[in-house]
Amino acid sequence: MIIAIDGPAGSGKSTVAKIVAKKLNFRYIDTGSMYRSIAWKSLQKNTALEDKEAVANIAFKTKIELVSSESGQLVFIDDENITDQLKMEIISRGAAIVAAQPIIREIMTTKQRQLGKQGKVVMDGRDIGTVVFPQADKKFFLDADPKERGRRRFIELKEKKQASDTDLSIIIEQVIQRDNEDRNRKIAPLKQAKDAILIDTTKLSIDQVVKKIITIINPGQKKI
Ligand code: C5P
Repeated sequence: MIIAIDGPAGSGKSTVAKIVAKKLNFRYIDTGSMYRSIAWKSLQKNTALEDKEAVANIAFKTKIELVSSESGQLVFIDDENITDQLKMEIISRGAAIVAAQPIIREIMTTKQRQLGKQGKVVMDGRDIGTVVFPQADKKFFLDADPKERGRRRFIELKEKKQASDTDLSIIIEQVIQRDNEDRNRKIAPLKQAKDAILIDTTKLSIDQVVKKIITIINPGQKKI
């Protein structure tokens, strides 16, 4: 069984997907971390992210391992745990740049399909329900007001000491800009699959969104 959860930055999809996977005893796969990994490695090597050939070369050679842990998904690149570095804004920006390159998407989509083959997976991203697993058993598209999404991202970065109080409006702008890029790119743009269930999370708590999703997946089951 594959559950696809797509949506823009700050829609709550990663947090929700992680909890849903835990409750169902499924594996959680955060596909954004794969694009982030390529951006991270490229920046480490001082490679311009727009240099498609060089970035593709890096993507072919880099070993990306996603490891499930109690705290969520850990990301190892060439055996180094880089999980904590991936949420930095420079990496978010970089991920959106490399994610628009067809060859990178091809490599990542193949990896994601391999991971999905094992079954019992909750996968979150931008194109899981549309491109990676159009036959997913259940598809959800989470969305929220852009200001609220920016606010959530701000809180997340502040907790990690990667933002200060004055950065809120800048972060809202960055979130809106990244969404525009993700929605308007030519290949695998961010969009709701026709058969995905839309959940507007603007006024909902994480718990409420999780409950909605679990109820849809397991309509007969009252509590998990
Ligand atoms: O989900 P997250 O914010 O970590 O994703 C980072 C970036 O990776 C997104 O802004 C998007 O450009 C890209 N991405 C993608 N397709 C996915 C997951 C992420 O294009 N399935």
